[in-house]
Amino acid sequence: MTHPTIKFLKQPSSQAWVEQAIAHFDTILLDHSHCERKAAGVALNLMFRYPAREKLVRMLTAIAREELEHFEQVNQRLEERGIALGPLAAPPYGAGLSAQIRKQEPERLLDSLLVSGLIEARSHERLGLLGEHCPDAELAKFYRSLMAKASAPLWGILDFGNYLFRSHSCD
Ligand SMILES: [Fe+2]
Repeated sequence: MTHPTIKFLKQPSSQAWVEQAIAHFDTILLDHSHCERKAAGVALNLMFRYPAREKLVRMLTAIAREELEHFEQVNQRLEERGIALGPLAAPPYGAGLSAQIRKQEPERLLDSLLVSGLIEARSHERLGLLGEHCPDAELAKFYRSLMAKASAPLWGILDFGNYLFRSHSCD
C-alpha cells in the first residue's frame, strides 16, 4: 500500500533544532538510543496490555523487533565513537502527550496509538533532517536508511487506529 507524505505535524522542527542537533551530535546519538529502546518498550507494554487483540499483537511484535534492531544499530555507532550508554533526561513532550491519554477503553488504546503515531511522525521528520544535515557521511546515510524504514510502523499504527475507530464509537 502506498501512503501520502506525513502531513499531520502541526509545526515542522525549527532550524534552531537542526543547528543544536549538529552542535551536540553525541547527545543526539545517545538520545536516539533511548528513543529506540523506549519505542520497543511501548510496543511490548501494549502487547502485555492487550494480549487477546491478535491483529494488534502481530503489528506490535514486528514493531518491537524492528525497534530493538535500530537500538542495536545506534548502540553500535555509540560504541564506535566511544560514547558510553548512560542516563539522559527525557524531553517533556512524551510525558505531556501521555498525560492526554483517556483512562477508559477503547479510548485508552486509541489515544495510545495516536500518541505513538505522533511521536513516530516527529521521529520520522527528524531522521530526515539528520540525514540531510549531519556532517558525518556514514551517519547521514544511516539516518536516511532509518527514515526510509520508520514510516512502516507509523502507517501500521495509524491503520490500526483507523480500524479501531471504525469498529467502536470512540470520538
Ligand atoms: Fe526505530
